Amino acid sequence: MKNEYSITLVKKEVLGPSCAVLTFACPEIAGSGRPGQFINLSCDHFLKRPFGIMCTDKEKGTFSIGVRKVGKGTDMILKAEEGDKFTVLGPLGNGFDFSDVRKLLLIGGGTGIFPIFFAAQYAKEKGIPCKVVNGYRSKSDAFLYDRFSCTCSDFQCTTDAGDLGTKGNVMAYLDTMNESDLSDATVMVVGPGIMMRKVSEWAKEKGLRCYVSLEQRMACGIGACLVCVCKIKAEQEGKEFVHKRCCKDGPVFLSEEVIW
Ligand SMILES: Cc1cc2nc3c(=O)[nH]c(=O)nc-3n(C[C@H](O)[C@H](O)[C@H](O)COP(=O)(O)OP(=O)(O)OC[C@H]3O[C@@H](n4cnc5c(N)ncnc54)[C@H](O)[C@@H]3O)c2cc1C
Ligand code: FES
Repeated sequence: MKNEYSITLVKKEVLGPSCAVLTFACPEIAGSGRPGQFINLSCDHFLKRPFGIMCTDKEKGTFSIGVRKVGKGTDMILKAEEGDKFTVLGPLGNGFDFSDVRKLLLIGGGTGIFPIFFAAQYAKEKGIPCKVVNGYRSKSDAFLYDRFSCTCSDFQCTTDAGDLGTKGNVMAYLDTMNESDLSDATVMVVGPGIMMRKVSEWAKEKGLRCYVSLEQRMACGIGACLVCVCKIKAEQEGKEFVHKRCCKDGPVFLSEEVIW
């Protein structure tokens, strides 16, 4: 397969008992991966597992992902040690559309903070003014806090526990933003479905263009099996909706087109 590579885990940074950032040597993905795209990573079990690209380093020829333990596949991946070999397929999916973006509001939650970091890094490189708002459960769950603080001049966070940043979920912070903060902003959000839906509704109310990255269960990751279809509005085609493949046509969609 054209974009399948044999790769080595070169760095493992443990973030907590069930979460780590893994960095792999793979010049091809380091060179061509864009924010919002994902990779499919091998594990001991049937089917590769999808992970959003967290960052790339073109000079070193590496890319990183953040992994949180869910089931058998992520458990095995998190037990890997530096030097271990994997097979990867990628970069996959469409990624975020940065054309016409003059100002960016990035919103992350759950494992969505990993791909959001890539978008923040890209905005910095391109000189796009950018605010990041991450929603965490608590201070102890605030993964990548230092890295976001170093990368983004305007990094805000919320915690359900209220022990860091604004108390509550990301909506508690967004509701405090004034019109001048928001004017001309493009919103990109990655996180749990309910969070993306709430942010989409809020962005619609404010008249802001908003992109979401949908996380459907996947199998092939390349558009062949149709496991990952989602409903996307299709008024122009004279239909209420069409089914689109999250892996190939997405995972990034304009929020106003998504049927939640
Ligand atoms: C586009 C995309 C980007 C993602 N990015 C990240 C990331 O950056 N970090 C992270 O930790 N996780 C991410 N996930 C979720 C991650 O893929 C799942 O947690 C993982 O596949 C679970 O595998 P498992 O074997 O541990 O769990 P199991 O529940 O044992 O998995 C069984 C099967 O269901 C699939 N599956 C289970 N949960 C999901 C899910 N949420 N999405 C897709 N397939 C799933 C698995 O791939 C596997 O084939 C992403 C998912 C998608 C679709
Ligand atoms: S996972 Fe097979 S078509 Fe999307």
